Amino acid sequence: MGIAKLLGVFLVMEMTSGFRSGADGLSMGYYIMSCPMAEFIAGGPFYDIPKGRKDGSRSKIEDTRNLPPPTLNASELIKMFGQHGFTAQEMVALSGAHTLGVARCSSFKNRLRDAVDPNLDSGFAKQLIKTCSAGDNTEQPFDATRNNFDNLYFNALQRNTGLLASDQTLFASARTRNIVNGYAFNQAMFFLDFQQAMVKMSTLDVKEGSKGEVRQNCRKIN
Ligand code: HEM
Repeated sequence: MGIAKLLGVFLVMEMTSGFRSGADGLSMGYYIMSCPMAEFIAGGPFYDIPKGRKDGSRSKIEDTRNLPPPTLNASELIKMFGQHGFTAQEMVALSGAHTLGVARCSSFKNRLRDAVDPNLDSGFAKQLIKTCSAGDNTEQPFDATRNNFDNLYFNALQRNTGLLASDQTLFASARTRNIVNGYAFNQAMFFLDFQQAMVKMSTLDVKEGSKGEVRQNCRKIN
């Protein structure tokens, strides 16, 4: 999967999930991905991405099938992001986007079945089992402040209360644990690394010529 595709699926994920969560049809996650200023992120890092990037004109829910599976472990995530030029540190910083929003039970219920995931806090597992008894589409926030861009996501990983297996693996793995601890301890460092990794993502595999369009409004196809 090219990086454009990777970025694209994240964008579509944000858009489709935004439709689900109402507001004006787009989630905050979508804004941070595609709009130059992160004015929508309560308390989050401010950053400016280079202007004039061409975007595609397709945003379909089918495309979200290419999302990285939430079951990947740290080594697999390092490999996958590495194939697109990201370091392990940048991958962990980008995963910090999960400070915003929710996941549906269908994305993490495999962790609750039979032998509960050993990297999952048992009290939190019980709470999730209760929440998910309402069905696969039930939403669970990633951290205690789903609308605030902060480092509580990383604090949650330290307590084994990460929601997706792909979140908790970042703390479980010796390859990435120190990075998680660093961001949990120092929010400013997380913000800086996140904004730099987002700028990097925004400049990769930009569409050229008639394959894309420079949006007049970064939130809409022209
Ligand atoms: C590291 C690999 C990643 C995996 C495996 C992953 C997977 C997921 C999954 C499964 C969900 C929940 C979908 C649902 O149940 O509806 C989700 C939500 C979300 N992801 Fe990721 N993601 C990853 C990285 C990223 C990155 C790099 C960003 C942005 C920079 C991002 C931003 C978000 C946001 C904002 C949400 C919440 C959407 C909402 O509230 O509706 N994710 N992700």
